[in-house]
Amino acid sequence: MAEHKQAAFSSKVGLIMAAAGSAVGLGNIWKFPYIAGENGGGAFLIVYLLCVVGFGLPLVMTEFLIGKRSGRSAYGAFKELNGNNRWQWLSWLCMLTAFLIMGFYFVVTGWCVSYLTEALGNAFHDLDTTALSSHFAAVASDVPRMVLFSCLAVVLTGAVLWFEVNKGIERLSKILMPLLLLMMLLMAGRVLMLDGSNIGMRFFFQTDFTKITPKVIMEAMGQCFFSLSIGMGALITYGAYMPKNQNVARTSVQVIILDTLVAILAGLIIFPAVFAFGFDPAEGPQLVFVVLPAIFEQMSFSWLSSVLFFGLLCIAALTSTISLMEVAVAFVNEASNGKLNRQKSVLIVSACVMVLIVLCVLSGTVFDALDEVTSCIMMPLGALGMCMFVGWNLPKKGTKGMLYADRGIRHWFGKIYIAALRWVVPAAIILIFLNSIGVL
Ligand code: TRP
Repeated sequence: MAEHKQAAFSSKVGLIMAAAGSAVGLGNIWKFPYIAGENGGGAFLIVYLLCVVGFGLPLVMTEFLIGKRSGRSAYGAFKELNGNNRWQWLSWLCMLTAFLIMGFYFVVTGWCVSYLTEALGNAFHDLDTTALSSHFAAVASDVPRMVLFSCLAVVLTGAVLWFEVNKGIERLSKILMPLLLLMMLLMAGRVLMLDGSNIGMRFFFQTDFTKITPKVIMEAMGQCFFSLSIGMGALITYGAYMPKNQNVARTSVQVIILDTLVAILAGLIIFPAVFAFGFDPAEGPQLVFVVLPAIFEQMSFSWLSSVLFFGLLCIAALTSTISLMEVAVAFVNEASNGKLNRQKSVLIVSACVMVLIVLCVLSGTVFDALDEVTSCIMMPLGALGMCMFVGWNLPKKGTKGMLYADRGIRHWFGKIYIAALRWVVPAAIILIFLNSIGVL
């Protein structure tokens, strides 16, 4: 059984940056624009923001609280808090979700690595809109190359967990994340000066309420879970490392604001460019990979900008894959009662993930299915489970104790939180499920 984790983050800012490193990743820069583009732009944005407030805040808080109170990762936390094994299925669900996400997430990371190598060789120079699209298709269908780059990312992530140098990476990302943000601000500035960028701005910010369909709502909910890393126990681990006197509500709000800002910034870069260059916003998963190189061609220092951006994107992806793989590794390690040590667990998880990667590279259907099923079904289910666990299963005193134990949270806010946890969030998730399968 794992030790209770000490408050390993000396500073509160350190923990916020680490959790933000997990949250900010390909979900913000790759997935958000493509899902928003497929689901009507402004209509999607407004539903997404509502989800971030309504689901994101209570659920990020819940995972932090579970970790902070139990001092354990997803595997031991539920047992620790209620003293029996009845909620162990939830940690299985968390592990399985992490595993399936890794299958396609590493493939997209492989695309990023591939684009970084090409940016280094100045390969996008002089490619027009159609050439960029066929270029992506050629990259993605080059099976040996994609498997190689994706597995390289697995090895790198595995190495970080093997040598337990997560802290080093987090320190590194404390410098690099602001740099990524700065880079994105510059790109947004450049894109907004393009002719026709206002059409993209209207697409992204103007809400056409008739476009809000059950599918849009479902996709927005899924994207919110995916982008904030909730519903699969990843944040429980960060909660376990949280200094005792850190305010859970404030920390959650800060992480959520950071994550949402990066997503909106990505939209501000992609959509004006999509319309200025004549791409299709509903292009699908390749959207940012065809649009970004076109943007760099318009920038001064285009080689440097593209190398820097794809390099930073790879690092942002890495901080997220570390947090994903950590869930699965801790699970294997603890579920085997320590018989499989950390290193062996890393090997087993990496090997299994590589098999999944090959399947995703070979078949777009598998890729899309994993992407869709994890975000829209498994993470909401995991979140539902955690609401039930904290809101209903723990004795009321337990939930309140957890909430107010380390002070900082205001009473009225705590009341709203508990009501959200017991009623609003579970009801909303169930309604959205029913609505999307056409029952309502
Ligand atoms: N949130 C990350 C992103 O936006 C992806 C991610 C990392 C994740 N860890 C997670 C998603 C845990 C769900 C659960 O790219």
